Amino acid sequence: MRTLSILSGLILTIALCMPVNAMAKDVDSVKELIEKYDSARCKQCHEQIYKDWEKSLHYKALIGPFNKTLGTLKDYLTQRDGELKKSKEVTKSIKEYMEPCFGCHIPQIQDASEKAAREIANAVLKEDWDIVEKLQVNCIVCHNKNAIVRRFRDGNPEADTVYGTKDLGGVHGDKVFTKSKKNEMMADSAFCGGCHQGPNVLKSPEPIWCVSNYDSMLQNYIPNGGDKGCQDCHMRGEGMGHRFPPNYDDKEFEMKRLREHIKLDVKTLAYTFQIKNPNLVSMPMIVINTKVTHDIGHRFPDGCPSPTHFALNVTVKSKDGKEIFSDAKYYMPQLKLGYTENKMVFASFRKLSLMRDTALQPFKAKEETFEVKLPPGVGEATVEVSLNFVVEPGVKESVYELYKFTREVSIKGTEN
Ligand code: HEC
Ligand code: HEC
Ligand code: HEC
Ligand code: HEC
Ligand code: HEC
Repeated sequence: MRTLSILSGLILTIALCMPVNAMAKDVDSVKELIEKYDSARCKQCHEQIYKDWEKSLHYKALIGPFNKTLGTLKDYLTQRDGELKKSKEVTKSIKEYMEPCFGCHIPQIQDASEKAAREIANAVLKEDWDIVEKLQVNCIVCHNKNAIVRRFRDGNPEADTVYGTKDLGGVHGDKVFTKSKKNEMMADSAFCGGCHQGPNVLKSPEPIWCVSNYDSMLQNYIPNGGDKGCQDCHMRGEGMGHRFPPNYDDKEFEMKRLREHIKLDVKTLAYTFQIKNPNLVSMPMIVINTKVTHDIGHRFPDGCPSPTHFALNVTVKSKDGKEIFSDAKYYMPQLKLGYTENKMVFASFRKLSLMRDTALQPFKAKEETFEVKLPPGVGEATVEVSLNFVVEPGVKESVYELYKFTREVSIKGTEN
């Protein structure tokens, strides 16, 4: 009896000394945080997977393609003294301020102390590559920290366990993650939705629209009969696995993939149209029909790479090279800040409301018709139609010239 009361007194004293969430002990420096999630040793036994992952954007979660993520993250941090001044009244904590932005890019920030979070912020602001390169969506983030989608049902991830889709009998060769557990949810799209969804209006004090592949898939692909999941299209099959294409930095690889999934068809007709109005009017003209088809399971391009777009360019020139007509159509989501002004904005921390969406949508072809009336005396012309995918405007290597068609047309009767 006495031992029991001493013991329970002891337990009570210990419990009182502990912070409320003693389970989630904060990591006190960025160095320790990087070490805690260091996945380098996974390479010994999973070499191919590791090499593929190194080519993926998960490897560059704070950097992004053409460094554009690092730039926007810097802007977000800097805005705390500008556009987002009020945040200092809402929270003094830099960690809390970072959460709406960094929570998906590097979920390990949840383990960071205020001091460690400040170190991450400084590393981003100073572009300290030694640090930003090592904060990634890596093996341990996906196969441990974020592996469990339903925690009330399936529990928290355990510190010594890797979660995968197969049953390996509970054991695993790694020195820290000595156990393994089957977790079917990792093969479900909801697992990817943990980070690839938005805008996070309910969850966040500063709602951010970065990406919405998961939402878009649930609302536009599945209802129209789509039967594939994220893993089918991005992991299973040749050239995929842990590369998670698109890999915009690998031009040749990505050009092939985009051309495989996105097609452009062009039809032209030059003829003399006649109408009785009530007198007869003859109009020599060219009709250009374009059709972009694809087999993507969500809007594309999607939210966060906001200046990213398709440009469909059409020009018509007479035989002597003079431009008769030129037009462009842009395919992209078009967002605004959410206040009164109906003006498109870029950057994830500004855009929130979707005003218009001309991006490619599942099972929908994009069809356009251009009617070009020919000037007097012009009966022949050259039509040029091109489709470019521009990942980061201003960066030459980020422009994918997917298709370019040139057609010679004549009102005397060539057609195709
Ligand atoms: C809900 C999770 C989530 C939040 C919150 C989030 N991001 Fe993202 N972000 C992602 C994912 C996932 C991708 C990669 C997918 C893509 O590019 O479509 C991405 C891509 C990006 C890209 C584009 C890179 C590319 O692939 O072209 C930029 C830039 C970016 N994020 C910046 C930010 C900034 C800045 C914030 C905070 C203001 C933020 N993100 C908040 C999940 C998020
Ligand atoms: C973005 C999340 C993510 C990251 C990062 C990630 N994985 Fe995976 N991994 C998955 C998912 C999801 C599957 C299951 C794929 C499926 O269902 O087809 C998987 C499957 C696996 C498998 C079993 C399938 C196979 O091909 O043998 C192994 C082993 C594995 N991952 C190891 C790793 C290692 C090692 C790393 C780091 C280099 C890593 N993963 C990084 C999400 C991830
Ligand atoms: C000493 C070798 C060794 C090391 C180190 C190692 N693994 Fe494994 N791992 C294996 C073997 C063997 C398997 C079972 C065969 C397979 O599925 O590839 C396995 C399976 C897995 C699976 C289960 C895949 C599935 O099909 O469900 C995951 C996830 C995984 N490892 C992740 C990791 C991660 C993350 C690391 C680094 C922290 C790591 N492994 C380090 C040997 C190792
Ligand atoms: C822990 C959060 C997280 C999870 C889980 C996750 N991703 Fe990502 N994903 C990211 C981030 C962050 C990026 C890169 C952001 C950037 O470019 O700045 C990214 C990039 C990508 C890209 C490249 C995007 C581009 O613009 O080129 C693809 C494709 C992708 N993820 C697919 C998946 C799939 C499929 C799954 C599920 C099997 C998954 N991701 C799970 C966070 C996540
Ligand atoms: C039916 C096939 C299919 C399904 C299902 C699918 N995707 Fe995609 N996705 C594609 C193709 C094709 C592209 C075009 C570029 C590429 O992958 O190289 C793409 C592009 C992307 C991009 C780049 C977005 C951008 O704007 O640059 C991300 C991120 C992505 N998918 C994530 C996901 C996630 C997460 C899921 C599940 C919620 C998913 N995808 C489901 C086929 C699919």
